[in-house]
Amino acid sequence: MGGAMKHALIVGGSQGLGLGLVREHLGRGWRVTATVRSPSPELEFLRQQANGCLTIEQLDIVKLDQVSALARKLSDQNFDLLFLNAGIMAGRGLPLSDVPEPDISGIFLTNAISPIRVADAFAVTVAPDGMIAFMSSILGSIGTNDDGRAELYRASKAALNSLVRSFRARHKRRDLTVLALHPGVVRTSMGGAAAPLDIETSVRGLADVMEARWGRGSQAFVDYQNEIIPW
Ligand SMILES: NC(=O)c1ccc[n+]([C@@H]2O[C@H](COP(=O)([O-])OP(=O)(O)OC[C@H]3O[C@@H](n4cnc5c(N)ncnc54)[C@H](OP(=O)(O)O)[C@@H]3O)[C@@H](O)[C@H]2O)c1
Repeated sequence: MGGAMKHALIVGGSQGLGLGLVREHLGRGWRVTATVRSPSPELEFLRQQANGCLTIEQLDIVKLDQVSALARKLSDQNFDLLFLNAGIMAGRGLPLSDVPEPDISGIFLTNAISPIRVADAFAVTVAPDGMIAFMSSILGSIGTNDDGRAELYRASKAALNSLVRSFRARHKRRDLTVLALHPGVVRTSMGGAAAPLDIETSVRGLADVMEARWGRGSQAFVDYQNEIIPW
């Protein structure tokens, strides 16, 4: 790293880990463009402190018209990092037969399909030797799934991981680094108050992992401590 100021596009920066990633990258001297689906006072507060280094854009990742409009608006940008963070939980604690169908289609559309569609729309704006990172979860690991908890969420992140590998194969860009990341179990509105990690520890780890893997032109499924996770 080093040299010119790096520029990240962080998708889903309103709260939780996304907001933490914005703060962490600003702290490391990056320029950041962050998207939110509705106004975020915390992110707006960060913008006011950021001396012009933070730009906020509006995007609901499941709305294809918004995706293409923002991709057109940002088409002249040159991002070093594209980070797809947005994700939801659904159906936790319920047998699959009790989960309402809109929740089922919603979680696959939000966690698996939409991050890939957004990455496809913005891939041309990512530097040839840049990085695209997807917020996965260790629960998406098929190889380590021995207890089946949160099975719908697990399946959505396993689907994301599969699509991440297809994305990289389709794009045939040898110098692009593609990561599926597990942030740890983190105290956010999704992770809950009893989760072991705070946001700062997780995002510091994730940023270190991305730096360590910068420029490798490979793909990996790793956690915030750079431990490889079985797909
Ligand atoms: N916390 C954990 O322990 C943990 C563990 C493994 C993986 N993860 C993953 O980490 C990511 C961030 O989660 P979090 O823990 O920070 O939870 P969070 O606080 O609930 O944040 C989720 C983020 O996703 C955004 N989002 C959801 N649907 C969206 C959509 N359709 N369009 C645009 N943005 C959307 C939310 O925006 P709004 O503010 O508008 O709702 C919010 O910024 C998720 O992908 C999650 O699956 C979390």
